[in-house]
Amino acid sequence: MPRAVRFDQYGDIDVLNVVDVERPVPGAGEVLVRVKATGINPGEASIRKGLLHERFPATFPSGEGSDLAGVVEEVGPGVAEFAVGDEVLGWTDQRASHAELALAPIDQLVPKPAGVPWNAAGALYVAGATAWAAVRAVGASTGDTVVVSGAAGGVGSLAVQLAVHAGAKVIGLASEPNHEWLRAHHVIPVSYGDGVAERIREATEGRVDAFIDTFGGGYVQLAIEELGVAPDRVDTIIDWATAEKYGAKTDGSMAGSSPQVLSELAGLIERGELEVPIAATYPLEQVREAFRELEQRHTRGKIVLEP
Ligand SMILES: NC(=O)c1ccc[n+]([C@@H]2O[C@H](COP(=O)([O-])OP(=O)(O)OC[C@H]3O[C@@H](n4cnc5c(N)ncnc54)[C@H](OP(=O)(O)O)[C@@H]3O)[C@@H](O)[C@H]2O)c1
Repeated sequence: MPRAVRFDQYGDIDVLNVVDVERPVPGAGEVLVRVKATGINPGEASIRKGLLHERFPATFPSGEGSDLAGVVEEVGPGVAEFAVGDEVLGWTDQRASHAELALAPIDQLVPKPAGVPWNAAGALYVAGATAWAAVRAVGASTGDTVVVSGAAGGVGSLAVQLAVHAGAKVIGLASEPNHEWLRAHHVIPVSYGDGVAERIREATEGRVDAFIDTFGGGYVQLAIEELGVAPDRVDTIIDWATAEKYGAKTDGSMAGSSPQVLSELAGLIERGELEVPIAATYPLEQVREAFRELEQRHTRGKIVLEP
């Protein structure tokens, strides 16, 4: 029987188990994917802890995971777009990709370009769609100076590269160990913590046009009140309450969820214009260890399960 992550109640990492499950059967418009790589995301930890119960409740037993890349194992009735053996990347909305086998609708999959590594492909959806949407939301383009908080995290590491690609001068807020990686990706690193507004002003000669917040904890307010960024050029993917207060944007993964966006990002990766940094990989059976590392909140790029 195929193995999959399940949890039967809200709680800490130890509610996560890997168990035998029924083999999923693809319906019309679906394919069954043998998962080769699947990214893990902080939102999944929040759901598991019950912190998003109002917004995204769980029903038990619950599966987990959206991101996936793998090989088509079986196609549902009438599916002509994909065939058994095709290499694909994409997502499921059924909290089901942290598994050996996962179903996905055909309009949530794209062909995996041969030059895109499995780990990058399997980690792309949530972080990639979110970064793409955030960069679009703030309208980053040539001549702009854009600041990104959490600049080396899963979303931030992609957002900084996409903003550079759009022609902007990019300031990345990150801890010291990530500064070299940021510089190597044409991003000016600035340490967060006390005095961050002053350090940003020094790095930007006092002009900041847009701000992408991937961390929360006061950056929306800092952007608008201390750096003078217009609220419609601030996007936060986490601090919804402050965004509402100031009229800032909250475009996240939903705003970037399309096969076209995934294909565009995969193309950038294949051409060497976008790197998905892989901080660590774990076998499916070590899902708890994977989340233990993620929940330290200092991942550079993505952590990936390899079922
Ligand atoms: N709305 C949406 O659609 C959506 C989609 C995806 C994610 N999210 C949310 O967005 C957030 C980021 O997701 P992610 O996957 O990028 O997370 P992640 O990979 O865990 O990134 C964590 C980042 O936070 C940084 N960080 C830690 N402490 C910090 C501090 N005190 N100040 C500033 N930065 C700090 C770390 O930087 P250093 O390592 O340099 O310390 C690290 O780069 C999560 O809360 C997630 O739930 C929302």
